[in-house]
Amino acid sequence: MCDTGHAGGHAAFGFLVDTPEIRELVAETHRVTAGIADSAIRVETLKPAFAALLAADGWLPEAYSRPDEKSGMGGGIGQYALYRAEDGSLCLFSLVVPAGAATPVHDHLAWGLVGVYRGRQDETVYRRLDDGRDPARADLEIAKRQTLDRGDFYALLPPTDDIHYVRTVSDTPSISIHLLANDTACVWRHRFEPDTGKVTPFRSGYANAPCPPASAR
Ligand SMILES: [Fe+2]
Repeated sequence: MCDTGHAGGHAAFGFLVDTPEIRELVAETHRVTAGIADSAIRVETLKPAFAALLAADGWLPEAYSRPDEKSGMGGGIGQYALYRAEDGSLCLFSLVVPAGAATPVHDHLAWGLVGVYRGRQDETVYRRLDDGRDPARADLEIAKRQTLDRGDFYALLPPTDDIHYVRTVSDTPSISIHLLANDTACVWRHRFEPDTGKVTPFRSGYANAPCPPASAR
């Protein structure tokens, strides 16, 4: 584990927010990842620890609870790294979506858990109907919709239910917490336009930590 990455004097890797609650979840995730090979069993095993973080108060700094007007995702959406493994195998981040705003339709490309910490979100999940052979096209249909309140969370187990968007339906910004087995904001993922089938590669980036050069990962 490395806490000494550098980006303009700030740590880029390790615990960008260092609290006992975050350390406990990250330690548990490393233990579970080392001891369990199956991703579905990993996320099931991690649910109590993840729920405990969502239920706890006082560990998320105010600066990482706000929208970000320079957002890489657009719409004022803030994505703030809380923990990043230097080898790209794990990250924890907050995603702040202003009231009424929605993310693009996107994928994640890693197993993990996502839950609402503040506010309320509607999630729309898509099912892919094509075989994925054409990197620029995807044929999507809506698989399910759900509303998530504070403390609600779901598992990501790609390729199942990996393509979705969320919209904040509370009067205040929603904050969701993401524990994912990659360096989500820095990997090349995909933005989808379900109406036209267009697929565009993108890196969302963190508001508080740089990504490696585009070709590095
Ligand atoms: Fe997402």
